[in-house]
Formats: sequence, C-alpha cells, structure tokens
Amino acid sequence: MNGRITISDLLQAKREGRPIAAVSCYDYTTACQVGQAGVDMIIVGDSAAQLMFGFDSTLPVTMDIMVALTAAVRRGAPHAYLVADMPFLSYQVAVGDAVRNAGRFLVEAGAQMVKIEATGAHLDTIRAVSDAGIAVMAHIGIRPQRISTIGRFRAEATTAEMAMQLIDLAGQMVGAGASALLIEGAAAEVSQIITKRTEVPVISCGAGPACDGQVLVAPDILGLTEGKLPKFSKAYGDLGPRSVESFRLYAEEVKGRRFPDDDHSYHMKSGEVERLTSLLDRQS
Ligand code: KIV
Repeated sequence: MNGRITISDLLQAKREGRPIAAVSCYDYTTACQVGQAGVDMIIVGDSAAQLMFGFDSTLPVTMDIMVALTAAVRRGAPHAYLVADMPFLSYQVAVGDAVRNAGRFLVEAGAQMVKIEATGAHLDTIRAVSDAGIAVMAHIGIRPQRISTIGRFRAEATTAEMAMQLIDLAGQMVGAGASALLIEGAAAEVSQIITKRTEVPVISCGAGPACDGQVLVAPDILGLTEGKLPKFSKAYGDLGPRSVESFRLYAEEVKGRRFPDDDHSYHMKSGEVERLTSLLDRQS
C-alpha cells in the first residue's frame, strides 16, 4: 500500500484475504511509532477517556477533545487510514448534529471515517452521515457508551438468538450505508458469519480471528495498561515497568545532583564569563 491508505485499499485487502492491522491510539508520539510499524488503520477511540484522562468510562470525552486528539494522530501518522470515534452525545441527540460533528473530524482533523456505536435506533443517523459523504464504521457488539443502561459488559452473541440479532443488526448497518463494521466482544463464530456475508471490511475487537482485521488499544499492546487486561487483549511489550524504572532513575539522579551533568548543560562563549564578572564587579 503506497501513500495514504484509502477505503479502496481496505476493500481490496478484504477481497484478497489480507488481514488489516488496526490500533486505537490518541497522541502524536504513539501515532508516529504506529505509523512506522506498518499498521494499516488507526482508530482514535473514545477509550481515550479512560486511558488518557483516567475516567472510569468512555462517556466524558467531548467533540473538542476528540477532534484535537485525532488531528494530533493524523500529524504523527500521515499514511495510516484514520478513523475517529464519535463521542457520547455527539450523534445521539439529533441527526443534524451527527452530520456536523462527523464532518468536523474530516475537515478539522484529517480523519477518513467516523465510528458510531450503533443500535437499530441509529440507522437514520448512519444513513444521513454517509449520505453527506462521510464514511461510517458502525460499532456493534459491546458498545461501551451504553454502560448506563446495561451496568456491566458481557460477551455478545453467545446464544443462537443473540447471534441472530447481531447478524441482523450488521446487515441493517450496511444497508443504511456503513462502509465498515467494528464488532466488539462477540462470539467468534458469529463474527465469522457476519464477515463472510458482508462486503465491507469487518474489524474485530475481541470478536475472534475470522474478521477482516483486528484492533487493540495501544496501551495494552505496549504493556502500559495497569491491572488485568480483558480476555481478548494482549500485551506485546512491557513498557509499563520500564517507564517506571526510567522515571525512578531520573528522580534519583536529580535528587543526587547527578543530573544535569556537563554534557547536558549550556555554557557561555569563551571569554564571556570574565566579561560578565567584570560587569558585575562594576555594578557593586
Ligand atoms: O474506544 C476505542 O478504543 C474503541 C476500540 C474498540 C477501537 O472503540
């Protein structure tokens, strides 16, 4: 894939059975590294509320915050396919708000697609946003923005009836114009059926290996997330303990007056110390 990855590249990857690697990340520095690592897609997820800002749910992040984070990620990874997550209340109140807010991600932040946590109640919204020329990823399965109505999350589509509902919802989303699906926390067998039946790319976040692509959040991949990871997630590094050790060494050197040393300090030009001394002497 040369230059910036587009929706055509993702569709081609699906047709050719080449898995799409996606990462959810929220800042310029991480995006630079994700871009260099050959990841195809970055989703600037509203999990930023928890992993960047320390809230206990995804609800508190606003449009302004998400636009700023998405723009920073675009600067760090100019070639990745960029998806911005529409935060809580940015699309639920009115269809017009949804179109305007979705448009902000394209115009102000360089996103190529917006992600909407979708139920059957959002079909008109998905249709309106996509009719406005904005590609939509419909996020189905576990939808963390619904925490207030469900209390706690559990795997989706684990019974035949639940599976039928998810398969039906996926079809409705694509029928309403969704250009991609993201399935979170659902039975692998069901995601496989949806992926086979659907022409658009299907990204899995804890929905098994048969989808067209996979996404994990960057802090989990790097080993930065505190506490136990969800069953579907995986740490590929151990940056958490290594970061703490780096900060500890730094604090120790500062407190022991070993940092900064001469190598990390600026000095006056030759002869200037003497001139300064005589200027100060004249002053006193
Ligand atoms: O918020 C998030 O990080 C997500 C991921 C599933 C992409 O929605």
